[in-house]
Amino acid sequence: MSTESFENDLHPAGSSRFVRACLRQPVDRTPVWLLRQAGRYMPEYMAVRKHHSLLEICRTPEIASEVTITAAERLGVDAAIIFADLLLPFTPMGLDFEFVNGEGPVVHQPVRSREHIESLRTDRADELNYVAKAIEKVAAHFSAPREDGDRLGIIGFIGAPFTLASYMIEGGSSRNYIETKKLMYGDRAAWQLLTEKLVTVLVAYASQQVEAGADVIQIFDSWAGALSVADYREYCLAATTELVQRVKSLGVPVIYFGVDTASLLTTMRETTADVLGLDWRVPLDEGWKLAGPGCAVQGNLDPITLFAPADVLEKRVREVLELAGNRPGHIFNLGHGIVPGTPVDNVIRTVEWVKKYGKNRQ
Ligand code: CP3
Repeated sequence: MSTESFENDLHPAGSSRFVRACLRQPVDRTPVWLLRQAGRYMPEYMAVRKHHSLLEICRTPEIASEVTITAAERLGVDAAIIFADLLLPFTPMGLDFEFVNGEGPVVHQPVRSREHIESLRTDRADELNYVAKAIEKVAAHFSAPREDGDRLGIIGFIGAPFTLASYMIEGGSSRNYIETKKLMYGDRAAWQLLTEKLVTVLVAYASQQVEAGADVIQIFDSWAGALSVADYREYCLAATTELVQRVKSLGVPVIYFGVDTASLLTTMRETTADVLGLDWRVPLDEGWKLAGPGCAVQGNLDPITLFAPADVLEKRVREVLELAGNRPGHIFNLGHGIVPGTPVDNVIRTVEWVKKYGKNRQ
């Protein structure tokens, strides 16, 4: 099918409406993708997972790319996020970890001292190039425009300094981040060294992903919401801004996302990220106001709405679109990742509703 009939000012030939929306350019309809779109809720993923561990999938480009592509195509979304994990850079930094079923990530020797931070390596980021290889395969698969003339966007991702440091220091998921904050408050120089080392590795890792074909980099600061505005500003803003600016200078838009961030959005915007990801607790229009008019936003349906009856879910999807109004720069997403047990049909329906109700909004 010729793609020419789809060309117009809102959709130049071969362009990606997802990338255009990240840059606040007008689009033919609101683009949509979903956090954790390739996760355990999906039977196709579980079938692969039966034979391979999570880390095996991440470290095998053939499998990681297949999982990425299958999820994007099954759902009909406008962007594919590479299948990887936030914690992969720990290995070349010299910090061993594993994923324990039902428990999440476990770092066996958590980072608790300045000496340990000094021993972390920053010169082996090239060992992560299996992720770039997976991105190359995804980019090759999606290089041609789809039936509607749109080229699917490819998202690479990295963690932000606070969120990654919290896993390193706590040794896993945390409720109160006591050890992380103890180190942050108690040894400022050590904290700064740790965040600087993370930024060095993350920029190199993001650069590999961009070179391999990532159109956009999302920076996950999932647990930044655990910080007060004052602590975020004092201990995280500088390193995160440095990271955002260095990734932007690779030539791609940056999406910066965290959970429970309503109080932080204005400060997070100071990082100069092109797009702020909104969690579901903040009404989208209020979140956008806090982010400011020079910023695009991504979000923000509550992922648990995907368990609701169809009429409730449809109403909530329309509400998110209505709160975005007709401003350019909205990417439809969830306010956090899809959880295991989510009915796949509801996920597919949600994407269809965004396509239907998100048309010609600008
Ligand atoms: O399509 C996708 O989005 C999947 C790719 C992806 C994974 N991890 C694979 C994964 C992405 C984008 C991530 C990012 C990630 N990893 C984050 C940030 C996103 C967020 O939710 O805020 C975080 C905090 C991590 C660290 C991590 N990885 C945790 C805390 C866990 C355990 C929690 C859980 O959901 O079980 C993981 C495991 C993990 N990473 C899974 C997947 C699909 C599930 C476990 C599995 O398949 O065995």
